Parts: sequence; structure tokens; C-alpha cells
Amino acid sequence: CGIVGYAGARPALGIVLDGLRRLEYRGYDSAGVAVVCDDELLTEKKAGKLANLEKVLSERAASNPEDCAASPIGIGDGTTGIGHTRWATHGGPTDRNAHPHLAPDGRVAVIHNGIIENFAKLRAELEDEGVEFASDTDTECAAHLIARALADLRSAGETDSPQLLAAAMRVVCARLEGAFTLLAVDAGIPGAVVGARRNSPLVVGRGDGENYLASDVAAFIEHTREAVELGQDQIVLITPDSIDITDFAGQPASGKDFHIDWDSSAAEKGGYDWFMLKEIEEQPQAIADTLLGRLTETGEIALDEVRLSEQDLRDVDKIFIVACGTAYHSGLVAKYAIEHWTRIPCEVELASEFRYRDPVLDRSTLIVVISQSGETMDTLMALRHAKEQKARVLAICNTNGSTIPRESDAVLYTHGGPEIAVASTKAFLTQLVACYLIGLHLAQVRGIKFADEVGAVVAQLQEMPGKLRELLDRIEPVRELARELKSEPTVLFIGRHVGYPVALEGALKLKELAYMHAEGFAAGELKHGPIALIDQGTPVICIVPSPVGRGMLHDKVVSNIQEVRARGARTIVIAEEGDQAVVRYADHLIYVPRTPTLLAPLVTTVPLQVLAAEIAAARGHDVDQPRNLAKSVTVE
Ligand code: G6P
Repeated sequence: CGIVGYAGARPALGIVLDGLRRLEYRGYDSAGVAVVCDDELLTEKKAGKLANLEKVLSERAASNPEDCAASPIGIGDGTTGIGHTRWATHGGPTDRNAHPHLAPDGRVAVIHNGIIENFAKLRAELEDEGVEFASDTDTECAAHLIARALADLRSAGETDSPQLLAAAMRVVCARLEGAFTLLAVDAGIPGAVVGARRNSPLVVGRGDGENYLASDVAAFIEHTREAVELGQDQIVLITPDSIDITDFAGQPASGKDFHIDWDSSAAEKGGYDWFMLKEIEEQPQAIADTLLGRLTETGEIALDEVRLSEQDLRDVDKIFIVACGTAYHSGLVAKYAIEHWTRIPCEVELASEFRYRDPVLDRSTLIVVISQSGETMDTLMALRHAKEQKARVLAICNTNGSTIPRESDAVLYTHGGPEIAVASTKAFLTQLVACYLIGLHLAQVRGIKFADEVGAVVAQLQEMPGKLRELLDRIEPVRELARELKSEPTVLFIGRHVGYPVALEGALKLKELAYMHAEGFAAGELKHGPIALIDQGTPVICIVPSPVGRGMLHDKVVSNIQEVRARGARTIVIAEEGDQAVVRYADHLIYVPRTPTLLAPLVTTVPLQVLAAEIAAARGHDVDQPRNLAKSVTVE
């Protein structure tokens, strides 16, 4: 979910809505706002995308122009507000389950990201006391509890003040289990928004006479570049002129100030129809930025920022790569490279499975967690489990100051810039680059592979931005292919070696964007079952390795292509430029620039990204915000 809070001197509503627009990628099942205006709380919420909420707000403004007319849309010129865009967990995506949730007197509004795990108990307790619930959500408990805590404090003689709101939030946090970011406002306490954070993201934006709270900095970047990172289990109270941070017990605590070094245009479409298409185009630059400063002139890998000593790295005897979704696929590719270069056994695991199978970990295990957002709850929990077992954790992450890098022993940031489209593209390619750098660095530190090979790969990595540019400049035929494939019921993807994770990633992209049945297989495994899926005309996208160097691998895939063709498949072959052997077996041939096998996913993935985005667009789907998904999933 995406969360925004504002306390300042300007009308809050427009600022909150703008913030929500920039956070909508975090969830778009429903949206809502609450603004404190003249000792009143004005709220509106609506199922569906933010646009639905905006429409309702405009209608409301049109039917009641007197209603706080200074606001851009019209429900309030109040200068304190909160807003929410939801990815549903408890309770379906309906109007009543949309946030904010209110206390019965309508004077306290709460928004929430995460899951309150003891909500059933809290709800039963409140219902026993006669409270009637207006929604199916866990969040509503928090609204009732905050209203009660405020009432108790008031009847104990406390007077209304921003501090009172913070005190009430502390009372409630002591009762909540699970993961949450909560924001609350009270009609009687204008000029104050209180936030609480446990295991869910929340950052503070420091303005001039105004302050912000948000799930991520994108929400307020157009207003301020100065931000404060919060720790776990902290409560933050913002007013126009102050930011007060305490722990859950009320002891003063401090956040970490940081400056945001990308500007707001990086999070805008810049002429593209979809963020995803822009982000695909940005890949050459994203890769160049991720390599920048990390390769020395003498062909060495310089990863000083990875705060693990060379001795620590020499002691590593096993590596686990742990991630979710597309990041997991980058880990699958990394395994081939890391094992080849370092000879250290490397396993790749889905973060959501990792801790539950009780993996064997110790001090000499290196865990590499990969996460674009740095907030994925499954990955965070796997990281914590690994740390409890004394393993060392190195994070690959694209989001500065997010939870996963903060809790890791070391971090290698990808410099992909903000990725807004839900389906990951440039983050994936930069994750691959980061994995290659780590593999090469380990090999170098441990002196396992001869300097020559590391040096050669470094030179090849440096050529990748140029090769990607070349590939993107001639991607048009893929768009045409998309129009041909858009009505297919099933598309299969096959590959071997690093082409196998590319096949998985290609299929994932098609599923998430086009809602088509798509599956990726190891090409050699096809004959053990999945080949039965092939019917006359079934499209099979075949990722062919370079014929150079690993000829046997190449020839094996060519044989697999013949096997599927013999059963009626229509083959779409992605192969290296100049590979003549595939021509006669390809119904469609897409050439990619020549690239050494281990680095090939950097180019072979790109046509699959474009294909999925174009098929989705041709089928009339929202490319950036596919149904049922969210970019950053902060629940387990
Ligand atoms: C979500 C997104 C995926 C993403 C995955 C991991 O499910 O929809 O696109 O790959 O989370 O996200 P992370 O931020 O940890 O890389």
C-alpha cells in the first residue's frame, strides 16, 4: 500500500492526491483521503484506482462549491491530511474496506500498510464491548483503539495537542502485533499527523513550514529533497514546524537525515505512454550507472562500499541467494556466474520459502538478498532468519535507506533510478550487473580464477550499455510480433543454462502484464512432460545460447527447437547475431548482439520485456499497473 501524510500551511488535499499518484504503483485496489478542516474531518474513499477517487471528489466539489472552496478539488482547504492507496489483504477491494478507517464518532481517521496479526482477537474484544465495525479490515481496529485511547487521555485531564495524538498512538502500538505503518489524524487536533512504524516502510519529508510522511520519497520529492529515515518501532509526529520521533515507549529517538539525489522528473513518464516503456529504454543508462565507479582502469572490481572484509569473503564456503519475483530470477542467473567464477556452491531460494525449511546456515554462509524496493516482507523475514543463524547478509538493492539494506551487513546498491512500473525491467538488469560484480569480486578476492578471465569479463561488462542501446534501436519487429501473438491462449518459453531463468522471466512478464497463460521451462526438461502442451501452432519462445565458446549448449537448444517444431510449435527464436544454424528452425527470428554466454541475459531478456508490454497494451491492459499486483509487497 502507499501512504501519505501532510501537515503544513497549504491545502493538504491536492498535495496528498499528488503524493498518492506517485505511490499508486504500491497498490491500486482502492484509494482514500482524510483532511482535517475547521474542526471537522472530511473523508472520501473509493474502490478502484485513484482516478475513481478523484472523480468522486470532483463531483463532491461541484455539488457543493461552498465546501472549503480553496482546495484544488474541493473537499477541504484543511492543511492537514492523510491519503492511502491500497493493495488488499484483509477484506476485498470495496468502498467500505478502502482506507481511511474512522472511529464511530467520525473524528479520528487511520490509514495502514501491513497486517495486524492479532486483529481477530482485538476485533472480538471490541465487538464484545459493543463496537460495530464498518469494514472487514484489520485496520479498523486501530481506528477504534486510537479513538478510545484519545478519549481515555482526555478524560484523565489531558488537553488536546499534537503530543496527545502521539501518546494515543503509543498506547495502541503496545497492543498491536504484526507489521504496520499507521498514520492517524484527529479532527480536534489540526496541524498534526502521527505515524508509527514496525516492519513496514515510512519516511519523513522535511519541508519549510510543512512536513510529510510517506511510504517512499517519491510521494514528496517535488516539494522537498530532505528526508528522514525512521528506525523500527518508532513513532513520528509531524506538525508544520516540527518532527518528533520517539520509540514505542515514548523515549526520544532520532531518525537519519538523508538527501534525495534524484529529481522528480525521474519519476515521470517523459513522453512515453507507459512508465514500463520508459524504463526499458533507460536500461543502457541504468547499467552504465550501476557499473560506474566499480571497475578500475586495471580491470579490477572495486567494491569498497560492500562493508565485508576480504577475510570475511575468503571465509565464505556457501552462498544462498534469496529473493522474490523478478529479483529471484536475477538470482537464478547469478548462480551460474558465481559458481563458475568462484567455485563456491550457490543456492537460490524463494524468500517466501527460505526460513520455513530451516536451511543450514552459519558464519561462513553468505546470504545475498536481492530486492528492488528493499521493503519486500518475504525477503526481509528471510534476511532476519539468516542473521539469527549468524550468516552474513549482503543486500543488492535499488532503494537507498530502505529496510533490507539497513538490516544487512553490507549492501551493493543498483543505480537504476526510480522504477515505477509494477513489472520490473531496469531493476532486473541492474540486479544482474550487481550479481556479476559480486561474483567477480569474490573470485578476485579469493584468487580462484585467473586474473585474465576476470579482466575479460570486466571489459565485456563495460560494452553492455552500448550493446543494449543497439538492441533497443532495432526492437520494432518485436512490437509487430506482439500484435500477432496477442490472442494466443498459451505461450511457452524454453532455455538452457542462463537462458532458463530468462525463459522464466519472459513467462512471468507475460503472465503479470498480459494475463496470458505463459510458462518457462528448462529446454532439456521439456521432453519429460511439458512437451505434451504443444499443439499445432503453439508459440514457443526459444532462448538460444551463443554458438561461440559453449557450442554444445547451443546445439542442444537447437535440437530442442526441432523437437517442438516436430510437434507443431510455432517457434520464435532469440539468438545471437550471425547464428545461421537457427535460421531454418525459426518462424520468427530475433537477433540480439553478440554477448558472452554468462552475460547474455542482459540482452536476451529485453525483447521479452518489450513483447509482454506490447501484448498487454494490444489487449487493452494497464501496462504499468496490472490487476491484482503491487510493486512493493510489504506483507508476507
Ligand atoms: C512484487 C513485484 C515484482 C517484484 C517482487 C520483488 O511481487 O510485483 O515485480 O519482482 O515484488 O520485489 P523487490 O522489490 O523485492 O525486488
